[in-house]
Amino acid sequence: MTLNRLIIPPWRDHWFKSNPCYQFQARWKFHRAFLWRDFMSIETSLRIFPPDWTQPMPLRDFFGNDQPIEVDLGCGKGRFLLAHATAHPNVNFFGVDRMLRRIRKVDNKARRQALSNIRLMRMEAYYATTYLLPPASIATYYIFFPDPWPKKRHHEHRLFNSRFMDALHRTLTPGGGVHFATDHLPYFAEVCALIRADRRFAEIPPFVPEPEEQTDFERYYIGRTPIGRFSFRKT
Ligand SMILES: C[S@@+](CC[C@H](N)C(=O)[O-])C[C@H]1O[C@@H](n2cnc3c(N)ncnc32)[C@H](O)[C@@H]1O
Repeated sequence: MTLNRLIIPPWRDHWFKSNPCYQFQARWKFHRAFLWRDFMSIETSLRIFPPDWTQPMPLRDFFGNDQPIEVDLGCGKGRFLLAHATAHPNVNFFGVDRMLRRIRKVDNKARRQALSNIRLMRMEAYYATTYLLPPASIATYYIFFPDPWPKKRHHEHRLFNSRFMDALHRTLTPGGGVHFATDHLPYFAEVCALIRADRRFAEIPPFVPEPEEQTDFERYYIGRTPIGRFSFRKT
C-alpha cells in the first residue's frame, strides 16, 4: 500500500482517482510495463522502423533475402498471416496494423513459432502504401475485413478510394494481385465498382483461404452473413 493510500481514506476514493496526478501516475505505470517489455525484446522483435518516415523504406533489407513480399493490410491478431507464413516459407510476409496491441500480439506469436519470414509495422495502411512501401515491390496484398465505416458521414474513412488504388498500383509488381474480403455488402459493391472501372487492374478468381488460414473475422462471420470476396491483379 502506498503512502497516498494511507492518507486518502476509501470513502474519498472517487475524489482520489479523479485527481489528474493519480490518473497520470496510473497511466504511466500501465505503459511502463509495455515499454519495458518492448525494450527487453528489441533485439528479437519482428517489428520494423523505417529509417525515414517520409521516404519509401528499403523493405527487402529488413528481410535480408530476395523472396517475394506479400502484405497483410490490417492484419489484426494475425491468424491468416501466421498460418500463411508457416505454409509458405519461401515468401516474405509483411503485416501492417494501426493497433499497437495487435502488432505486439502477432510479434510475440511469430517469435514463439520461430517464423523468420514475417516482419511487422504499426502504421496506418494508407500511409504505409502511399509513402513507405517501395515502388513495384509487393507481389500480393491481402485486405481482409477492413473497417467498413457503415455510416454515410464516415464513408470518407474507408480504405478503398481512388488514391488508395493509385498506391496499390505504384507498389505492386507487374501482375501482382490483391485479395479483398468483407462481410459488408454495400462496401463490397462499392469496391467492385471502383476496381472494374479502373483499367490498370483486371479481375481474377477470388482467393478463398484454407480453413486453418481463416482470419478471426472470417471465422466469426462465416455461416452468419454472406462474405464478399474479390481479387484482382495489376495489368
Ligand atoms: C475488422 S478488423 C479485421 C482484422 C483481420 N484482417 C481479420 O480479418 O480478422 C480490421 C483491422 O484493421 C485494422 N485497421 C483498421 N483501419 C486501419 C488502417 N487505416 N490502417 C491500418 N490498420 C487498420 C484494425 O486495427 C483491425 O485490426
